[in-house]
Amino acid sequence: MNKRRAFLKSAAGLGGAAAMAGMASAAEGATERTRVPGGIRVGNLYFAGGTTGINPDRRKNPSAPPGDVGEQTTRALESHKKNLESMGSSLANVIKVTVFMADIKNEKPAMNEAYGKFFPKDAPARSAIGTQFPDDITRVEIELVAWIPEFETGHPIIDNQHQGLVLAFNQVVAATGQGDGHEEAGKALAHLIEATKHHFRVEESLMACDGYAKTQAKEHGEVHLRLTGQIEDLARKVSRGEEGLSPQVLNYMEDWLLCHIQVEDMDLACHLNAGGH
Ligand SMILES: [Fe+2]
Ligand SMILES: [Fe+2]
Repeated sequence: MNKRRAFLKSAAGLGGAAAMAGMASAAEGATERTRVPGGIRVGNLYFAGGTTGINPDRRKNPSAPPGDVGEQTTRALESHKKNLESMGSSLANVIKVTVFMADIKNEKPAMNEAYGKFFPKDAPARSAIGTQFPDDITRVEIELVAWIPEFETGHPIIDNQHQGLVLAFNQVVAATGQGDGHEEAGKALAHLIEATKHHFRVEESLMACDGYAKTQAKEHGEVHLRLTGQIEDLARKVSRGEEGLSPQVLNYMEDWLLCHIQVEDMDLACHLNAGGH
């Protein structure tokens, strides 16, 4: 939990790769399996299924050229790139790649040339394997495993507001450490509540997008309502002196903030990003 707190403090800018070590620690317990564009997500790991890069014109025109191994490698990696970016990640976060090839003996140099343009430095671990495809036109199929920065959803409005919530939460933590903490902590908590309510309203207006089913929107809205009720109840108790902002209470608030981002908000952002909203 202390590591998660450290992450929250350092994540005021949510700087992606810079906070990766902290986020690795924060991944504890995040094991939910979710279907995402191109593959499966488990916690902050993304497992992409094999992707080929045959010229898409072939679907309409069977005589269109399928593309050579270099072109197919480029298309397959472009497709992975797009999926990763829709989840707030990128090719820079790819950990492992497996490349299946129709003719590894003769076509590996051309594949390597196209591949190298996507990973100019810090290339991921890679295996290249010769295989037999069910047709003659597929020259290459590429699968990969990547890291998804845990608290970035890839949706700019949601991520910006989450940064604001992290800052507001950090102000509550800082205020509780001050000598005359009671009043300052109360103000900081009130600010966090206002920022949270505003953020929830914005997310709820985004939920009207296509693809985010009414049931999901309803459940997500109910989570917002429950969280708002809990934090407002806490603020009332703090103002009446019935409850202090103890480390346990702060940990609890931190948990709901992070868990909500990782589960419901990530799901919403996936829908928004996939639909270009
Ligand atoms: Fe939310
Ligand atoms: Fe959110």
